[in-house]
Amino acid sequence: MDKYAVFGNPIVQSKSPLIHREFARQCKQDMQYEAIWAPDDGFNQALDTFLASGGQGCNITAPFKQDAFARADVLTEGAQLAEAVNTLKLLPDGKLLGDTTDGPGFVGDLLDNQVQLKGARILLIGAGGAASGVLKSLLEQQPDELIICNRTYSKAAALANKFSPYGNINAVEITSLAGDFDLIINSTSAGLSKTLPPVPATIFSSHSVVYDMVYSDQITRFNQWASEQGVTKTIDGIGMLVGQAAVSFEIWRGVKPATQPVIAMLKK
Ligand code: ATR
Repeated sequence: MDKYAVFGNPIVQSKSPLIHREFARQCKQDMQYEAIWAPDDGFNQALDTFLASGGQGCNITAPFKQDAFARADVLTEGAQLAEAVNTLKLLPDGKLLGDTTDGPGFVGDLLDNQVQLKGARILLIGAGGAASGVLKSLLEQQPDELIICNRTYSKAAALANKFSPYGNINAVEITSLAGDFDLIINSTSAGLSKTLPPVPATIFSSHSVVYDMVYSDQITRFNQWASEQGVTKTIDGIGMLVGQAAVSFEIWRGVKPATQPVIAMLKK
């Protein structure tokens, strides 16, 4: 049976085994998928052990996405730009292909939620790994303008500079943010500690769609705040999680699983 896995530290919280087993059942794929914990300095060794046991491919989550990037023999353009790999696939010649599926998974979820991206004015809050992982995919949808802001402005400016060949992207200081965005994305990890990024409430308009990349059983702190400001459409990151998994699954197995039944299962 073909073997797949997700590597991370911590890893017990990962929903990836549940998601991929559900995809395998749905697509009638004879495969197994397990969660593998590795010590912070032990990704390569854990991966070697997995590959030696017949592993065909894996997902990589924090803190190993840069280790996987360094380890891949062949990188997609998306992975090169993001400087991170969340999907490895063993190729027939024994080389490891590294890709990142966060961007396509994210954009797929936005489109599934009927969010108009072409011609839209988008605000992306945050300039860490989660932001850089989705920028290329977002800009390929041809928004009118993508504004990126971050607590540490220099990181937003660096990303705007790096991704400017892909579309109209500009960095703005948080204190200079003006409103009227069609889509506001929170990519910061602030929500994980139940705090808000220091953006003004004036960014929200009643027509804004708000997407928080994190998710939890209840509405996220950021989406709650947006609702209190009159936003009627808020989306959390559960669809992105399932979407990026679906793109990885297709890279490995060549079949595209349906995401909606799995999103519905996770929301229960
Ligand atoms: P990830 O992979 O989740 O993006 P990261 O690369 O460490 O993690 O980036 C975290 C992002 O969340 C950064 O944009 C960070 O802002 P700084 O660059 O200024 O550190 C942002 N962030 C984290 N906690 C935050 C907070 N309490 N308020 C505002 N921004 C926060």
